[in-house]
Amino acid sequence: MYIIGQEEVDAVKRVIESKQLFRYLGGDQSETARFEAEWAAKIGMKYAVAVTSGTAALITGLVGMGVGPGDEVIVPAYTFIATALAPLAVGAVPIIAEVDASLTLDPTDVARKITPRTKVIIPVHMVGLPCNMDALMALARRHNLKVLEDACQADGGSYGGKRLGSIGDAGAFSFNHYKIITCGEGGALVTNDETIYHRALIFHDGGASFRDYASRITTPFFAGMNFRINEILSAVLRVQLTRLDGMLDAMLTEKRLMIQALSDIGGFTFNPIHDVEGDCGTTLALLFETPERMRAALDGLNEAGIDADTPIDSGRHVYTNWEPILKQQGAHHPAMDPYKRAAVPVEYTPDMCPHTLDILGRTLFLHTDPTRSRADLETMIEKIREVLTAL
Ligand SMILES: Cc1ncc(COP(=O)(O)O)c(C=O)c1O
Repeated sequence: MYIIGQEEVDAVKRVIESKQLFRYLGGDQSETARFEAEWAAKIGMKYAVAVTSGTAALITGLVGMGVGPGDEVIVPAYTFIATALAPLAVGAVPIIAEVDASLTLDPTDVARKITPRTKVIIPVHMVGLPCNMDALMALARRHNLKVLEDACQADGGSYGGKRLGSIGDAGAFSFNHYKIITCGEGGALVTNDETIYHRALIFHDGGASFRDYASRITTPFFAGMNFRINEILSAVLRVQLTRLDGMLDAMLTEKRLMIQALSDIGGFTFNPIHDVEGDCGTTLALLFETPERMRAALDGLNEAGIDADTPIDSGRHVYTNWEPILKQQGAHHPAMDPYKRAAVPVEYTPDMCPHTLDILGRTLFLHTDPTRSRADLETMIEKIREVLTAL
């Protein structure tokens, strides 16, 4: 969470006083319907479906695309485990591909991992950094694959002038506590594709066939579940949305000042960024020549009281720590386990993405803060300079 305040309190109060907390009671004027329209407009897609989490958005997106048993979905080796769990939830298996120095999906490795069973690629815009969408989209189109962008860590970022989540066939967002905008827990799926949208509506709400819009759905109904969001969360998100561009501006400004101030120091480079204008600016990534140099820098920065960390220590974001996946325990019941029903056995090993482990182990993260004053930023930069020049 970056910024939250009285406006969100007022919005929640308004909803509670209305005594209407269920999205489908308010029709087009519900907080949720309005948030969906506003989010779709912000991202630049025709349709948005608000759901309960980013995980729900990913699963709903894959259902929208018709992914199921026997299918393979390519995900990066560096992402929150949820990206890899989503294919399992729909009966498919995740195939894990390398990230490159940009910390995002390496198109060359994706090309190697495509098989006749591949249905979807999930590029993940990690820590607000846009993926190489030109290369990934070209690859996907060449192989007739769908692209579901995981923009859960990149609400509002862009690539080539288009908001992240609007370049592929669909985009998934998270609004959990740690994300750029938040309502505690929440998510959204966006798409321009009417079939994906209708299937998402059906899946995210088991009661879809009873709703007012049911007669407008042009795809066959099937059994869904409940990923519906409530009016309190949507009201918070509508306020958060008004803060989004301001926060992105502030974070990118800080990041640029940090880059400027640190660029004359040797011993590291800045991890390459596929679109510096579209970067969310949440994180500045420094790439050292060796893991030992990165550790020395990290220890020095932490001792100086600087908020710095390394993606190799980020536990659940590194594929080697995805225990249920590496052990191929793909469902709560063996008869539903996608690994047991895969067309071709899947093989995972802890060292299957060595390039990813190498990059993550040499990368150090510094974090921006949209609420920090220029004076505090300058003091912080001075301390960082001292540590890095003394290495
Ligand atoms: C890259 C990525 N994908 C998916 C998710 C899942 O989002 P949620 O926690 O809202 O389910 C997250 C959240 O941490 C994430 O960082």
